[in-house]
Amino acid sequence: MARCLVIGVDSALGAPLFRRIEGEGHPVFGTTRRTGPRSQNSFFLDLSLPPENWPSFPQIETAWLMAGWTLQADCKADPSGAHLVNVERLLQLARILAQSGARLIFPSTSLVFDGQSPAPGPDTPTSPQGAYASQKTEVERALLELPGQSCAILRLGKVLTPDLPLLDSWKAALLADQPIEPFADLFIAPLDQASAVEALFRLGMCKKTGIFQFCAHDQISYADIAMRLTRLLGKDPSLVKPVLQREKMKDSPPPAPFATLETGGTERVLDMKAPSALDVVDSVLCSFLKMD
Ligand SMILES: NC(=O)c1ccc[n+]([C@@H]2O[C@H](COP(=O)([O-])OP(=O)(O)OC[C@H]3O[C@@H](n4cnc5c(N)ncnc54)[C@H](OP(=O)(O)O)[C@@H]3O)[C@@H](O)[C@H]2O)c1
Repeated sequence: MARCLVIGVDSALGAPLFRRIEGEGHPVFGTTRRTGPRSQNSFFLDLSLPPENWPSFPQIETAWLMAGWTLQADCKADPSGAHLVNVERLLQLARILAQSGARLIFPSTSLVFDGQSPAPGPDTPTSPQGAYASQKTEVERALLELPGQSCAILRLGKVLTPDLPLLDSWKAALLADQPIEPFADLFIAPLDQASAVEALFRLGMCKKTGIFQFCAHDQISYADIAMRLTRLLGKDPSLVKPVLQREKMKDSPPPAPFATLETGGTERVLDMKAPSALDVVDSVLCSFLKMD
């Protein structure tokens, strides 16, 4: 059984990934930056602290690098603070783990592309927009240059979860028969959490290295997601008043027209089929509506 390590075990994806690995019977360790009582197989690790504060890990076969600043707004507001954690310290840690023989799995993002053309492939030149995406791109490049080809990168589409605050605010408005104004020109090629975690798990277990990509095979706008929710709530579809982000947020760059990635090679390697955007949205909305 492979000895595994999840860096960032409290993250939305890291927590279920840890359980998935554990459920398969592999010995697995996790890291947290939260203070307080910890389980025996958990280490304290805060990437904002220099390496002398980091734990010594046992010999690890596969490590998933799930920790970091993940909100684009935070990375934009404090690009150097985000760069320290997301790039400098994460790469220091990656080098330590790789030198001790670990294989690394790095969750990256479809945002390494500017979304000006549909379904870019793993080898398409990257074109990140904004601090978060640039940091992901920088880490991808550096990891691929690590000696010994010890890294697999998985670019994921937006992972849609039922706790998305937007769903709460839409639902509250719709139940009060108030109109909502979702963006019709903002697209995602989403994944549900279970599929994203399964893809990360399988990539970790299959020993491949290089760049992999997984997301829905098509895209959906936020306006269409809102319309879906409205119908599930049995409310009047005319309450949905789609607007254009490029007009509402004139100070921001216009949203990208494309969100999909080329996923064929990864689907074959992982033996997983990319879902349709609508199936992902429907399953997440059903879970959301069951949460009350
Ligand atoms: N979710 C998506 O849609 C998506 C899509 C593509 C790629 N990814 C990537 O997948 C990974 C996991 O994403 P996620 O959505 O699961 O992330 P998340 O829920 O936002 O969790 C990020 C984790 O990083 C930890 N963290 C933040 N700063 C840290 C520091 N200085 N030292 C140590 N840990 C720190 C946080 O700790 P606390 O819990 O204590 O705050 C948190 O547990 C990220 O690399 C993300 O970029 C996510």
